[in-house]
Amino acid sequence: MPAITFIHPDGKSDRVETSDGDSAMQAATRYGLDGILAECGGNAMCATCHVYVDHGWLARLPDMADDEDALLDGVAAERRPTSRLSCQIKITPELDGLVLLLPDRQV
Ligand code: FES
Repeated sequence: MPAITFIHPDGKSDRVETSDGDSAMQAATRYGLDGILAECGGNAMCATCHVYVDHGWLARLPDMADDEDALLDGVAAERRPTSRLSCQIKITPELDGLVLLLPDRQV
């Protein structure tokens, strides 16, 4: 199964295994990762699953939908060009090794 590495604001990292059909958010919450709240359960309504995609991976992700783009305007931490909602990142075998950086806050 593909694995994702989440990097915390303090530089520590967690390598999280995914399951078939997972979003990055689902893999993170099942693991019990600090830093992803996912209050809406993945329905693209809360923006508390915000991540920064590592620059080397950004172009390999599908483009974001308009609703994700709009919701990212309301994230608690700074929005950056690499910002995405982790619930909208569906993990595929091609994303094995994906690196996601966690913002300093979600609310
Ligand atoms: S979990 Fe709510 S927007 Fe991603």
